[in-house]
Amino acid sequence: MSAVEEKKIAALEAVTYVKNGMNVGLGTGSTAYFMIEAIGEKVKQGLTIKAVATSLETEKHAKQLGIPIVTLAEAQRLDVTIDGADEVDDQLQLIKGGGGALLREKIVAYNTDFNIIIADASKRVSKLGKFKLPLETIPFATQLIIKELESMGLSPKQRKNGSDNYKTDESNDIVDVDIWNADMNPSDLEQTLKQIPGIVETGLFLHSTDLVIIGEGESTIVFEK
Ligand code: A5P
Repeated sequence: MSAVEEKKIAALEAVTYVKNGMNVGLGTGSTAYFMIEAIGEKVKQGLTIKAVATSLETEKHAKQLGIPIVTLAEAQRLDVTIDGADEVDDQLQLIKGGGGALLREKIVAYNTDFNIIIADASKRVSKLGKFKLPLETIPFATQLIIKELESMGLSPKQRKNGSDNYKTDESNDIVDVDIWNADMNPSDLEQTLKQIPGIVETGLFLHSTDLVIIGEGESTIVFEK
C-alpha cells in the first residue's frame, strides 16, 4: 500500500466525523487534499456545512468543489477540523508547517472543538524532530532571528521558493530549524521560541489534537486524547 493510498484511507475515515450543520476547518497539504475531495463529494450529495480554509490553496480547492467557505469571524467556532501533519508522536504532539500554512492552521485548531489529524504511516514517530521545525517569522526581523537561532545551535535555514524567499499567505517568512539535538522538551522549546519577538508561530502543535487517524497498509490506527 502506497503512502498516497494510506493518506486516502485516513482522510475517508476522518470525514465520517463531519455531519450536517457543522462548521468545519479544512487543513492544508497532500493528505488534506483527499479530505477536501471527500467532503466535496458529500456536499454534492446534500451535506450542508460551512467551512473555514487554513490556506488560500485549500480555499481555492474547496470552492472549486462547491464547498461553502466562510471566514473564521463568520464561523466564530468550528465543530471539527481535519488537517495533516509532518510528524505525529504517541502523545498526539505534532510538527506541522511543511506546506507553510502553520499560522492559519494553528489559529483554526485553537478555535475548534474537535481536531482530527490524518496522516500516512511514515509520519508516525517516537520522538519529534527528524522533520525540520518550521517557524513563521516577520520579514522585518527574520535575519536577526536567524542569528539568534544559530547561537542556540538550531541550524536555521530560511525557506526558499526558487531563488526568492518563500512567503506565507500572510506574506511572512519561514525559517526551518533542526530541533533533533535541542536540549529541551517540545513544550520548553515552544515557550523559548515564542519569546523571541518576530517569531509569529511555530510548527509545534502540542495540545490541540483530539484524534489521530493514521493510514497503515489497508487499515487505520487511531489515537485519542
Ligand atoms: C501545511 O502547512 C502543513 O502543516 C501540512 O498539514 C503538513 O505539512 C502535512 O502535509 P502533507 O499532508 O502534504 O504531508
